[in-house]
Amino acid sequence: MMHDDLKKKVGWAALEYVMSGTIVGVGTGSTIAYFIDALASIKNEIIGTVSSSETSSARLQAYGIPVFDLNDVNILSLYVDGADEINNQLQMIKGGGAALTREKIIAAVSDCFVCVVDSSKQVNILGRVPLPVEVIPMARAYVSRQLVRLGGSPKYRQNVVTDNGNIILDVHHLNMSNPIQLEKAINALTGVVTVGLFANRGADVALIGTTHGVQVINKDPLVPNAITFL
Ligand code: A5P
Repeated sequence: MMHDDLKKKVGWAALEYVMSGTIVGVGTGSTIAYFIDALASIKNEIIGTVSSSETSSARLQAYGIPVFDLNDVNILSLYVDGADEINNQLQMIKGGGAALTREKIIAAVSDCFVCVVDSSKQVNILGRVPLPVEVIPMARAYVSRQLVRLGGSPKYRQNVVTDNGNIILDVHHLNMSNPIQLEKAINALTGVVTVGLFANRGADVALIGTTHGVQVINKDPLVPNAITFL
């Protein structure tokens, strides 16, 4: 089965987590595009959404699904988003689509983060893909030097401006053996807006699209790493 079919499967599987009468947090990316299609099929059952990017907002609005400002939303029970990599602790690297900052804000507000990925995104140790860092433009060279001091090789993502008007550095060769500590260290650099490491606040549930079906991994401490197939 092609990656795209697996993305579609998990995008639609995430509908199971959507409760009627709620506002749903919506992420960004090609997997989430399928989730938005799925959400459109039950659009009259939800109040609306908050969105992590202009691209997702446009797709939601094209379906006539309301998109609210996060500042006007007090409770967000669910956030559904993709990832570039996810490990067994449900920590992730995100930001391949440059939407990491808004994604991290919505993840922070949400009670439950459901990550939807195809099985190619599963890793034992994060870091196969470079780590995106959103940076204030004038701090690009300074932050790059600091990232080198942390052991990384930053590369400026050409011709990309984030929805917040900033730039992205993709950092290769970082030691990811302690993702929570690394997330803290990079976030502490002056000029960094957000690092695309979602370790401190990872996902609560991962829906993994495999050729055998959708694998569900729960992070619930009462059911450690319970794995079921939908
Ligand atoms: C957007 O900035 C990213 O965090 C996406 O969630 C991530 O890149 C996954 O995208 P795909 O679903 O397109 O692989």
